[in-house]
Amino acid sequence: MTYNDKVVRQFVVMTVIWGIVGMLVGVIIAAQLWLPALNFDLPWLTYSRLRPLHTNAVIFAFGGSALIGTSFYVVQRTCHVRLFAGGLASFVFWGWQLVILAAAISLPMGWTQGKEYAELEWPIDILITVVWVAYAIVFFGTVIKRRVSHIYVANWFYAAFIITIALLHIVNNLSLPITMTKSYPVYTGAVDAMVQWWYGHNAVGFFLTAGFLAMMYYFVPKQAEGPVYSYRLSIVHFWALISIYMWAGPHHLHYTALPDWVQSLGMVFSLILLAPSWGGMINGVMTLSGHWHKLRTDPVLKFMIVALSFYGMSTFEGPMMSIKTVNALSHYTDWTIGHVHSGALGWVAMMTIGSLYSLTPRLMGQKVMYSVKAVDAHFWIATIGIVLYIASMWIAGVMQGLMWRAFNDDGTLTYTFIETIAATKPYYVIRLLGGTLFLAGMFIMAWNTFKTLAQSKAPEFKAAEPAIWGEHA
Ligand code: HEM
Ligand code: HEM
Repeated sequence: MTYNDKVVRQFVVMTVIWGIVGMLVGVIIAAQLWLPALNFDLPWLTYSRLRPLHTNAVIFAFGGSALIGTSFYVVQRTCHVRLFAGGLASFVFWGWQLVILAAAISLPMGWTQGKEYAELEWPIDILITVVWVAYAIVFFGTVIKRRVSHIYVANWFYAAFIITIALLHIVNNLSLPITMTKSYPVYTGAVDAMVQWWYGHNAVGFFLTAGFLAMMYYFVPKQAEGPVYSYRLSIVHFWALISIYMWAGPHHLHYTALPDWVQSLGMVFSLILLAPSWGGMINGVMTLSGHWHKLRTDPVLKFMIVALSFYGMSTFEGPMMSIKTVNALSHYTDWTIGHVHSGALGWVAMMTIGSLYSLTPRLMGQKVMYSVKAVDAHFWIATIGIVLYIASMWIAGVMQGLMWRAFNDDGTLTYTFIETIAATKPYYVIRLLGGTLFLAGMFIMAWNTFKTLAQSKAPEFKAAEPAIWGEHA
């Protein structure tokens, strides 16, 4: 019995391509915030249309392809069995690409539900549901027909990601279609806002966190060539994380029409969330104990350790920002954007890149990528890019917040709004530079991935490869 790696290879290639596309759009909108004339007065190049294109491309096309692709790889290796329903797995690949294509056309056209991270209109939402159900069948089918009794913890995280995203997607997108390109949500007012941010926050928790933790639990030990630091902690981490995340959404709606007690509930659960988040981060970092010396020679591990550091940072920052008085300063400012990208670039993108650098050569029967030097160069370019991006947004954000709330003795505002924008401009240039560096790194990755995959014909791997976490698989 051999593994089905074709679909994994397809997802690997598309992850890199969509990463470049999504980040390129990110760089364009970063440039537009600096020089608005860069929309050339074309409707489909306006900031309002390209911004959702960026978020959808990086989260669902880049992140989604990485998550589905790695889950197909990991579930086969940890269950010692070939992927269930090969034809359906292929459908998941092509179906997901079709969803992305539909997004890439409809968002610049301005067809949107107006819900952040759920902009796509109802026909695309139905397609997503069909593809997602097919994905769930392939994944859980493989788990069910596994040849080992244990279900490795990475699969638990992938499973939570798949089930929760299905639930979030369906509930938040319930709407009344008016035409093919326009629908209205079934919820109204504050309830609509609450449902949207229940969705939005759990999209962070389950799309941008749980799935990438699954990658962490498989690829960090694999790359370090040692077992997970504490398997018991990983189980506690899992249950604590998934049960607490669900309640934290209201921190996106502080000082709004949402009942005050709901806002406070969201804040308290966000603060509690620090504990499981750090439990997971510490488990990942400590997996390297006894292997730290490998960081000198293995740039792939560097990607992973930096990813875990940013995970720790953003999950410390998030609970702080959820405190109402802190949020009064941070909300609406670029501090939020700094926080988002410390999670998105620092954690999500770095973990994805590290995992793919670990997985891609293995798919070809090799231990390392075509050029390890290029991996190292990518690491440094990406890390410098992130630091420039996040540091500039933190400074800009706190500055904006303080300028907006500055009053003169007679009660008038010290600064006009346009003055705060002018003061932000230099930071937008630094962010643009950081983003461009990060994007440049992705091009290096594309070249290295192409060279690695083109080296020879991929071997067929027999199922039941010996597991590195010993008794657990
Ligand atoms: C080259 C890399 C990137 C650049 C230059 C970039 C740039 C930007 C810019 C300019 C914005 C709009 C900020 C604003 O409205 O003030 C934005 C928003 C956003 N980006 Fe990125 N981005 C990059 C990579 C990523 C990645 C890899 C992810 C996710 C995995 C991501 C997720 C997001 C999200 C979720 C938002 C919306 C944030 C919010 O509404 O608060 N970005 N990005
Ligand atoms: C313990 C974990 C976390 C908590 C408690 C948390 C909390 C918060 C808070 C309070 C905000 C600001 C809401 C506002 O003022 O509008 C926020 C925004 C955001 N966070 Fe986090 N965060 C956490 C981790 C993360 C991670 C790891 C990521 C990314 C991988 C992330 C992605 C985002 C995004 C995309 C937004 C912007 C949402 C929007 O307005 O469009 N967060 N988070």
